[in-house]
Amino acid sequence: MAIEETERVVVGPAETIPPGTRKLVVPFRGRAGIGVFNVNGTFHALRNLCPHKLGPLCTGRVSGRVIADAPPTAANHRLTLAQEGEIIRCPWHLWEFEIATGRCLVDPHVRVKTYPVRIEDGVIVVYANRADLPIQEATDERSG
Ligand code: FES
Repeated sequence: MAIEETERVVVGPAETIPPGTRKLVVPFRGRAGIGVFNVNGTFHALRNLCPHKLGPLCTGRVSGRVIADAPPTAANHRLTLAQEGEIIRCPWHLWEFEIATGRCLVDPHVRVKTYPVRIEDGVIVVYANRADLPIQEATDERSG
């Protein structure tokens, strides 16, 4: 989708979302919201709906990914933390996604929708199409 076909969503001054923080916006009434994240000085926007069971993904914990150099049953295996501050974990069933790409860590075929973000005269602007944001269901389904 070309950026000209989307709507301009003004989020606010860039300094109001410092590195390591986020802001949730609901630009279109009745539609799913958008999470705007500052990851090491770069802004990213994700649909606030988890592709698993539509949980509020962007309200989850931001952290990194743990990488093991061997199975945990192996002697002397080591765990290292990578991409600190670049991963969002859904609060419902803990699926993890890379904020910059929307890619799910455990299944690269699953992605959460991302939106273009620009800084225009110091203001964060997200380009999103209203029709591209699902109608917000008033459910709290946490099973499964
Ligand atoms: S709804 Fe997000 S992990 Fe299940």
